Amino acid sequence: MEGGQRLRGEVRISGAKNAALPILCSSILTAGECTFHNVPVLNDIRTMGKLLAQLGCTVEGERTVKISAAKLTSLEAPYEMVKTMRASVLVLGPLVARHGKARVSLPGGCAIGARPIDQHLKGLEAMGAKIALNHGYVEAKAKRLTGARIVCDIPTVTGTENLMMAAALARGRSVIENAAREPEVEELARVLNKMGAKIHGAGTPVIDVDGVDELHAIEHAIIPDRIEAGTFMVAAAITRGDVLVRDCLPEHLDAVIAKLRAAGAEVTAEKGGLRVRAKGDLTAVDITTQPYPGFPTDMQAQFMVLAAVAAGQSVITETIFENRYMHVQELARMGAEIHVDGRTSIIRGKAKLSGTTVMATDLRASASLVLAGLVATGKTEVLRVYHLDRGYEKIEKKLRPLGANIKRVRVKGREQ
Ligand code: EPU
Repeated sequence: MEGGQRLRGEVRISGAKNAALPILCSSILTAGECTFHNVPVLNDIRTMGKLLAQLGCTVEGERTVKISAAKLTSLEAPYEMVKTMRASVLVLGPLVARHGKARVSLPGGCAIGARPIDQHLKGLEAMGAKIALNHGYVEAKAKRLTGARIVCDIPTVTGTENLMMAAALARGRSVIENAAREPEVEELARVLNKMGAKIHGAGTPVIDVDGVDELHAIEHAIIPDRIEAGTFMVAAAITRGDVLVRDCLPEHLDAVIAKLRAAGAEVTAEKGGLRVRAKGDLTAVDITTQPYPGFPTDMQAQFMVLAAVAAGQSVITETIFENRYMHVQELARMGAEIHVDGRTSIIRGKAKLSGTTVMATDLRASASLVLAGLVATGKTEVLRVYHLDRGYEKIEKKLRPLGANIKRVRVKGREQ
């Protein structure tokens, strides 16, 4: 990339990765064939498709995906799958609920933190599943799950989703307290209710699920990705651009919009999306990541770039994952002044970023490096862009029409 261009124009946001992943898994709960539209075309979605196919589902299509779990041939999510994508653990709840059994590899640590799944397991156990940990795998068994009151120690997104899917086919009523409130949880509940589930309260900290005997096939279009939208909004702001972010849902972006406005960007709701404009210098903003509706951890790395170029000193505190500052060292190599102390980082603004070769380490870290490249002087090369492709649909093809000077290249003998 060659930085320095002001981004102008319109960009269309794809379907939400973190809604699509549990929704694809929800098809295990029914023998009917489900059709999902607006599925983002991403590596993580392909990995989930492979996992479902390995279980015996028929999976067809990309943007529109048809899945049938009429006849499963395996109830196991192997280590090779789970280690490449932790969201594979989302098959656990549905498999136990409809087939009485599941064997899922324990995910282990990952680049951004330890990320245990104890809350998923505690909830399933409360519903009567027998859980055993053997040879690095979770083995869960239950003739039929029974409804239970589950109080989560912390709000967990995929944990809440796993438990909601399990409770949908359990006998009797379940209550999930301290549930995650993310829009993706609400979207999954919408899908399950369309299938015939009886779920109330998704999007609030208390979710009631009245179990039913059977769920049926549905057709559904997935909500837009609020993190992809937020990433383009930051891109518009830091380049002092003027971009209409199309097809996003502004109500899912309140915390992000508030911080962009606090930094001096103009954000207006327009027909078809959100318009982000910035003229003069941006100013420092303090951010603390929180479960929804607080500021999303998935936008922390991108805002760090904004903080690096804004006037003044910003403080960013990451409270969700203990190791989500892998982008800091790479941003520092581009000239950002960031001091990290535990979960807090202090960013001295007005850095003159200069392009160099940097290495992506995880999905959102890689997005931050692309953003930094947009405002850096000279050439920036981001390596290991496969991290980016897990969660952004061809980001370079969306940035180029906005005026960014960016391309994907294969360099022989170099790490991509
Ligand atoms: N946690 C536990 N025990 C559990 C579950 C979670 O201690 O049983 C902890 C985690 O270690 C973390 C916190 O609870 O400290 C919250 O984690 P959560 O379970 O909510 O995260 P997740 O469900 O594994 C989803 C997204 C992430 C996003 C987080 C937080 C999906 C597929 N993934 O992960 O997305 O960062 O919620 O919002 O929905 C991304 O898209 O880049 C990404 C990492």
